[in-house]
Amino acid sequence: MFSLALRISLFTGLAVALLTAAICSVWLALSFWQLIGYSFGTGLLISGIAYVISYLILYQRLKTINRITKNIAKKRFEEYNNINTGHRDELDYLITQSVRASKTVEREIQRLNKIENYRKEFIGDISHELKTPIFAIQGFLETLIDGALEDEEVNRVFLNKAMRNVNRLIYLTKDLMEISKLETGELKSNIQELNIRNVILDVVESLQHKALKEGVEIRLGIFDKNIHVRADRNQIKQVLINLIENGMKYNHNKGFVEVGVRPYPKNRNKILVYIQDSGIGIEPRDIKRVTERFFRVDKSRSRERGGTGLGLSIVKHIIESHGENLVVESIPNEGSTFSFTLSLSAKNELIAV
Ligand SMILES: Nc1ncnc2c1ncn2[C@@H]1O[C@H](COP(=O)(O)OP(=O)(O)OP(=O)(O)O)[C@@H](O)[C@H]1O
Ligand SMILES: [Mg+2]
Repeated sequence: MFSLALRISLFTGLAVALLTAAICSVWLALSFWQLIGYSFGTGLLISGIAYVISYLILYQRLKTINRITKNIAKKRFEEYNNINTGHRDELDYLITQSVRASKTVEREIQRLNKIENYRKEFIGDISHELKTPIFAIQGFLETLIDGALEDEEVNRVFLNKAMRNVNRLIYLTKDLMEISKLETGELKSNIQELNIRNVILDVVESLQHKALKEGVEIRLGIFDKNIHVRADRNQIKQVLINLIENGMKYNHNKGFVEVGVRPYPKNRNKILVYIQDSGIGIEPRDIKRVTERFFRVDKSRSRERGGTGLGLSIVKHIIESHGENLVVESIPNEGSTFSFTLSLSAKNELIAV
């Protein structure tokens, strides 16, 4: 039984019965029992009609609202298509709002699940990465305590090795802070107009000393001096540093890393910044994976050079948070080219680079 309709119909029936009794007693000379009979009959008839009307107007839609809210309570989310009945009244409004609430709750649950999965995976990765240097430091210290401390030549070597692992831990924590801020969207970009050549020159200059030590030449491609883009200066510098350092790290002695700017054929409002090296290259099967957190083609080679495997995933996050693309091309034993797009500022749009 549809109790809301029953209640509406009973009240309507009662009101009609009383009204009938009042009218009849004034206008018609009826006996008491006739009056009761007329009033009861009309009340009953109107009650029945009111019940049918209320049922038709309310029942299906209240059932729909009930289904939606029950589903939300059970964390079940359906696609509610064509659910409005076209009455454009408060009940239809309530149905629309319930569907909207269901979608919002669904989205929020998905977002929280994603964060939770990310958190679990992240903690797993971090503890794995922390273990290696910590165990190494523990090993060196134990050896020193067990007697190697007395031997001056050995203790210096072991302390240096321990120090290298401490540095690794420092890099790791710095990169971890950075990536967690980027991945949770906490780090906001400060987009401004930049002369990309000046940014590249700044970075290249700061890395020349390192390049000399590594026996790798960093050279500049040929491109226009006045290309202005819209980007976050510090973040783009960080991207360039990561990519140029990789180009030097995964290179041969007397190799080169070239940094330059090219037109972007797919969109004339963008340019392509490229970092090309003559290094060891990356196998096709690994290219897709290099931007994954903690992925390293050759773990021992990367670790030896203090690598944490976070550099490229930081790069990818920064580029994507700018709404741009990172492209990796590589041929094993020949070299790699990492390039990313940047948007030209209004002043520079449609420039021929
Ligand atoms: N230019 C390159 N040439 C060849 N391999 C590369 C190049 N750049 C990256 N790689 C491969 O991709 C992996 C991931 O690079 P990524 O920069 O993320 O980490 P990393 O260099 O090992 O450590 P770090 O966090 O210090 O940058 C590297 O370990 C390396 O195997
Ligand atoms: Mg790197």
